[in-house]
Amino acid sequence: MIKIKTENLTKVYNGNKAVDGLNLEIAEGDIFGFLGPNGAGKSTTILMLVGMIEPTEGKCFINDIEVARNPLEIKKIIGYLPEDVGFYGNMTAEQNLDYFARFYAMDARERKKRIEELLELVQLAGVSQKVGGYSRGMNQRLGLAQALLNDPEVLFLDEPTANLDPEGVFQYRELVKQLSDEGKTIFISSHILSEVSRVCKTIGIISKGKLIAYGTFEELKKELRHLTENLRIIVETVEPLPEIEHEDIISAEYNENKRKVIIEAKSDIRDYISSRLFENGVRIKEMRVEEPTLEDIFLSVYQG
Ligand SMILES: Nc1ncnc2c1ncn2[C@@H]1O[C@H](COP(=O)(O)OP(=O)(O)O)[C@@H](O)[C@H]1O
Ligand SMILES: [Mg+2]
Repeated sequence: MIKIKTENLTKVYNGNKAVDGLNLEIAEGDIFGFLGPNGAGKSTTILMLVGMIEPTEGKCFINDIEVARNPLEIKKIIGYLPEDVGFYGNMTAEQNLDYFARFYAMDARERKKRIEELLELVQLAGVSQKVGGYSRGMNQRLGLAQALLNDPEVLFLDEPTANLDPEGVFQYRELVKQLSDEGKTIFISSHILSEVSRVCKTIGIISKGKLIAYGTFEELKKELRHLTENLRIIVETVEPLPEIEHEDIISAEYNENKRKVIIEAKSDIRDYISSRLFENGVRIKEMRVEEPTLEDIFLSVYQG
């Protein structure tokens, strides 16, 4: 079942398209990674999906309910962790959560029970310290608890691991997995590839407001291969290598004893290299082509 859908979703600010004709379909139970550099339009997309701003053009749906037309209904089924989550520094976690929980129709007893459960989940139970003294990681975990107050079906997390230390990131990842196992659909934005690649099942890459790639990791690699046409050919030989020249070679890096070269080329010129080495009586120990990694691909997307 499709849980989150956008149709030609567009937001224009001062004549500039922050989000430009976005078409997304995210399945129920997915952990979707929305990946893109700063300013790509991730937060703007999320704000439209949670009904905090209206699209200039196009629509978005959660459970087939149009967000802009049914904001109250949407609020009941979603949880949202903003990029900069703010709490009252002079109150405890429990007091802060109780303040936010009052926005939902829960009586005092219900609120107390829910808040206890959530503080347990995010490992802040029994912390009597005021939130003002929290570390960034604790603050983010409290933010997650706040986003979960209404036990939402769909969770939007905007850059949840930005500025977290490695331990904080690890704990966060475990929590996301746990919530996914409970059946929630989770939408995570990030500008860091490794963050998304660790935890997400499906990934969409956004650049300048447009979705430029979408799919699982393996699908993405295939889809984006054309963006990095160059390939790396690594040759190791028994005898020293001769100079290899070819119009498709961009660079060639020989090691000191000239028995290894890493060639960046525009095409797969392995046959040419073999024949050159054969002519010179140089025996090949190994010759292989390195595929671009997702990092390479992502970098090339970032660089435009
Ligand atoms: N309220 C706003 N007013 C004007 N421009 C905005 C506003 N919010 C975002 N933008 C612009 O829209 C673009 C996308 O921003 P944003 O969605 O915050 O990107 P991301 O979250 O991917 O970093 C940026 O160029 C940003 O400057
Ligand atoms: Mg943002």
